[in-house]
Amino acid sequence: MKRTKIDTALRGDAGRPDILVKGWVRTRRDAKDVSFLEVNDGSCRANIQVVADAGTDGFSLLKDMGVGSAVAVRGELVASPGKGQRWEIRAAGVELIGAADQESYPLQKKRHSDEFLRTIAHLRPRTNKYGALFRIRSEMSFAIHEFFHARGFAYVHSPILTDSDCEGAGEMFRVTSFSPQDEVGLSAAERTARDFFGKDAYLTVSGQLAAEVFACSLGDVYTFGPTFRAEHSDTSRHAAEFWMLEPEMAFADLADDMDLGEALLKSLTDAVLTRCASDVELFASFVDKELPGRLVNIRDRPFVRLPYAEAVEILAGCGQSFQFPVGFGLDLQSEHERYLTEVHCGCPVIVFDYPKEIKAFYMRQNDDGRTVAAMDVLVPGIGEIIGGSAREERLDVLEARVAELGLTMDDYWWYLDLRRFGSVPHAGFGLGFERLLMLLTGITNIRDVIPFPRTYRHLEF
Ligand code: 4AD
Ligand code: MG
Repeated sequence: MKRTKIDTALRGDAGRPDILVKGWVRTRRDAKDVSFLEVNDGSCRANIQVVADAGTDGFSLLKDMGVGSAVAVRGELVASPGKGQRWEIRAAGVELIGAADQESYPLQKKRHSDEFLRTIAHLRPRTNKYGALFRIRSEMSFAIHEFFHARGFAYVHSPILTDSDCEGAGEMFRVTSFSPQDEVGLSAAERTARDFFGKDAYLTVSGQLAAEVFACSLGDVYTFGPTFRAEHSDTSRHAAEFWMLEPEMAFADLADDMDLGEALLKSLTDAVLTRCASDVELFASFVDKELPGRLVNIRDRPFVRLPYAEAVEILAGCGQSFQFPVGFGLDLQSEHERYLTEVHCGCPVIVFDYPKEIKAFYMRQNDDGRTVAAMDVLVPGIGEIIGGSAREERLDVLEARVAELGLTMDDYWWYLDLRRFGSVPHAGFGLGFERLLMLLTGITNIRDVIPFPRTYRHLEF
């Protein structure tokens, strides 16, 4: 007999004479001649209740079916007289698949702190909260593919090994096939020359340059994959390994880019509310009471669009004291971004036309000579969730910028070629997938929305 997922069993409209479920015991309660097991198999937030008694095959094994053990239950799916559940299983037989030592099993039937659960990241998906989170993570990945598929975007797999720093921020992890003893006595240049690629190699900080190549051939594309940054900052919003979604559109400008970012966030918010209602409800009950209202607001209200220069004026004149200075030419810090979205606008804000000095080399220069057609989407609780721009498609302007920044023209020969052969206006952005999950669940630490977080000084599991 094939096992039925608990989600399917609980959603059905009718009982079943014979059903087989498999999962992990969440609790067991023993009365005189009857025992109650709560079993969860990860398919949904709810457990299924199993009622076993002396007539159940394997009843004597029940004493070993403690919290965390893996079990199989066969029986009849019947309407439950208990509160809060529609169906339960009257067990004909129970089987112990894998016992869990009760003395050392670290998950108890109480709330554990997020900090503690990080130390047992191999077991935390078995808790209600992390089960819900990782189901939402999976649903949102799928919703991203659906969103772009419906709009005719092609999915491009950009490389993870790269020789260029897309963002120019120098936050790259170097990749080498050498072990330390191979390097003894070699100069840096010799080491590089003899290493696997014969040149310096890194883990990618962004798939954008590859996405641009494919936008300038397939039209509308996106990349979605792991991204790496050697950020030494130990913040709740930065990880060394995170997932980034990067759409890129040909024949598009900054307004198109903002429209796409806004439509995407609204669509994903709608998807989490409709498809993950029970899991979202958990976060609303136990993590952040304001979550449902905030999600509805994101879905239903137009985002505010604010030129950077105006944003700076608002921040300078708002009377709030900030830790970091505010002024034209200075980058917005998280505290500024959060003020704009949480206090000033009360909804997501798209800040655009940033000073060129604080943005990457590839952004399209505006006619004012001092700003670029960049945009960041800022959301409550987080600040920047999306960063993007129109790309500089004019060869002479891009070459001048590359030279001005002291970058090596040869490194970008193929990128410049795109501007030589049928260059078109194009635009795109990057959405931090973990930041999206923080937004959708109210979880405030990036370490808690990724299966195995990699952050400064932390690489476990
Ligand atoms: O603003 P960023 O650096 O933009 C780019 O990398 C562009 N090349 C994207 C593009 O236009 N195709 O990063 C984009 C987003 C940020 O807004 C943030 O949400 C996320 O990626 N992000 C991080 N998320 C987690 N940990 C980090 N260290 C992150 N750095 C950026
Ligand atoms: Mg950015």
